[in-house]
Amino acid sequence: MESVLNKKTLDVQVVREQFPILKRQVKGYPLVYLDNAATSQKPKVVIDALVEYYSNYNANIHRGIHTLAEEATAAYEQTRETVRQFLGAASTEEIIFTRGTTEGINLVAYSWGRANLKAGDEIILSSLEHHSNMVPWQMIAEEKGAKVKIVPISDEGEFNWEAFELMLSEKTKFVSVVHASNALGVINPVKKIIEAAHAVGALVMLDGAQSSVHLDIDVQELDCDFFAFSGHKVYGPTGAGALYGKRALLEAMPPFEGGGEMIKQVTYEWTTYNDLPYKFEAGTPNIADTIALKPALDFVSSIGKDVIRAHEAQLLEYATNELKKLPGLKIMGDVKDKVSVVSFVMEGIHPQDIGILLDNQGIAVRTGHHCAEPLMNRLCIPGTSRASFAMYNTLEEVDSLIRGLNKVIKMLR
Ligand code: ALA
Repeated sequence: MESVLNKKTLDVQVVREQFPILKRQVKGYPLVYLDNAATSQKPKVVIDALVEYYSNYNANIHRGIHTLAEEATAAYEQTRETVRQFLGAASTEEIIFTRGTTEGINLVAYSWGRANLKAGDEIILSSLEHHSNMVPWQMIAEEKGAKVKIVPISDEGEFNWEAFELMLSEKTKFVSVVHASNALGVINPVKKIIEAAHAVGALVMLDGAQSSVHLDIDVQELDCDFFAFSGHKVYGPTGAGALYGKRALLEAMPPFEGGGEMIKQVTYEWTTYNDLPYKFEAGTPNIADTIALKPALDFVSSIGKDVIRAHEAQLLEYATNELKKLPGLKIMGDVKDKVSVVSFVMEGIHPQDIGILLDNQGIAVRTGHHCAEPLMNRLCIPGTSRASFAMYNTLEEVDSLIRGLNKVIKMLR
């Protein structure tokens, strides 16, 4: 890895060496993994951290005084400090470990929503939302008699600013928007959204599932109230992610789940709750995967998000230009401000057929509605094919995708 550190450009071959899975073949072809928005592959340091934990210091945390428990607790809490730095939060007390973005959003919707929403209140979301940033809000709105409002988008997926400004009022209590769309890659103007929402007294949550791996995140600079992300999209293990919340808000919120560790004292009649962040971490957490999230984030930071972003921008630009040359192909969300996701439809060919025929050539893309069914309905399409790029993808892999799609066209048109 030494040779890729402190460099302005990424040595993609050195990076690829760190990901064992990239050596495998699929259906007789070298794997071309372009489904990184669904989950990224894991570098050896992450796999090694999991093996090391289970081989050498597997123990429950925050409970035991024996050596293994102390080592596991220390490693777990080191990840919290790394996540704090990764998000630019002021304190580790503001970092709650979760299973991922979905759990983080549910935590806020239920804990904050149950305590603060009332009939007639309004929650604003954007049209780009993944189901995980839509369904929890619909559920809590139904329970409390609140209303969910959706900011419209242009045909290319751009946030309609005028409509948003008109929607904001003293009834707006919460705004929850995706930072970067999983389905189209489009980046929402979150800084402006946060400022405008705060001006009417509303809180703002950002769904950082896609942005956290590509963009620099500084929650203090953004001034968002909550931010959730998933470790598995940032080269870490599945089932380990984090929620950031401003300390005063988290302190005022009731616990999400009850159980061990989230308490100070329990009697048969009453319970007092633990301090932050443990108040929101009931039961034995996902220790191994949370520990292995640290080397994933360190891996990204050691290369530098700016260096990774420059590489991915080159892949995105090349892929976009080459895809546009294919007959009957339309890119959805063809805007300038994007993360490295390219979603497209092909005239007369169903996305699922594209996915199957590409897989037959060892190329992994995601097809379908991408858990953003309302967005697909808004765009009047059943779904798209989506290629999403990570730091280890190459221009040659983009060429393989284009060759693969040409074969699809030959077979199905
Ligand atoms: N949300 C993930 C995706 O976009 C699973 O594929």
